[in-house]
Amino acid sequence: MMKNILITGSTDGIGRETAKQLAEKNNRIIIHGQNINKAQRVKKELNKINPKVEPKITIADLESQTEVLDLAVKLQQEEEKIDVLINNAGIYKNKLEFTEEKIEKTIAVNYHSHFILTLLLIPLIEKSEDPRIINLSSMVHAHNLDPEKIWDPVDFNGSQAYSDSKLAIILFTFKLNRVLDEVSVNCLHPGVINTKLLQKGWGGGGLSVEQGAKTSVYLAESEQVKDESGNYYINKKRKKPAAAAYNKELQNEFWNKSFEMIKYQEILNKIPDRLIKA
Ligand SMILES: NC(=O)c1ccc[n+]([C@@H]2O[C@H](COP(=O)([O-])OP(=O)(O)OC[C@H]3O[C@@H](n4cnc5c(N)ncnc54)[C@H](OP(=O)(O)O)[C@@H]3O)[C@@H](O)[C@H]2O)c1
Repeated sequence: MMKNILITGSTDGIGRETAKQLAEKNNRIIIHGQNINKAQRVKKELNKINPKVEPKITIADLESQTEVLDLAVKLQQEEEKIDVLINNAGIYKNKLEFTEEKIEKTIAVNYHSHFILTLLLIPLIEKSEDPRIINLSSMVHAHNLDPEKIWDPVDFNGSQAYSDSKLAIILFTFKLNRVLDEVSVNCLHPGVINTKLLQKGWGGGGLSVEQGAKTSVYLAESEQVKDESGNYYINKKRKKPAAAAYNKELQNEFWNKSFEMIKYQEILNKIPDRLIKA
């Protein structure tokens, strides 16, 4: 069955390769990126891999809450349903920078914008017969985080900010799994993969993007995962993340704080009430 699959950050690295592998398996890809030229190049690649299914391009800078809102509204207007949302886009920052909404950029892009996008898209995702949400975390996720301080860190350290953002997305995965009955929500570590992000943060090395896309593709496709939710995967296998990820109090506190960090009432108005109060 052809699935409608949105992959954030599918203009490069693991996301682009995930798009290729899923297009080859006859799925329709909604490419997302921040750069139209790069997105058009990926669209051409997908057209070549599978001429039968026309991919779509969406552009939104995940450093901007209003661009995330515009993206979600556009998808609600133009798509009947989304079967799979892969929250894949990510960055590594060497210095402290803030978004317009005064949120440190690593946490904004890697976690908070995906939190907003996902919640805005839940009604569209719930229209699928086999709805799945897949979040890219990392084995270098932090062992703990402070829900108050993460947005404006004292003594900024790029590696710490990155690790915090990757625990943040696991906490979100596990909480969202408790809130949603019918949607499968999982997260993963893709492996240490040779991309520009790895180059920037760790100086390079790593396995191929073909390897890096495998667990995302597995979680999007496999019948086996259909009834599995609320898990963290490495190499297509369930693994245990840091103990803090299972802390429901922390999950709840962080969830509530993430709503507080949404700076526009217009966004909150479009998120289903049952999620805000969950
Ligand atoms: N590589 C690894 O070893 C590794 C390990 C663990 C986890 N991960 C995770 O895997 C995911 C993919 O990373 P990657 O290694 O494939 O990195 P990558 O090659 O740098 O790709 C990142 C993607 O995110 C997009 N992106 C970045 N900032 C954006 C923004 N503000 N707005 C919209 N899109 C934005 C990029 O767009 P552009 O094309 O315009 O740059 C690109 O498409 C990330 O979540 C990363 O944390 C990677």
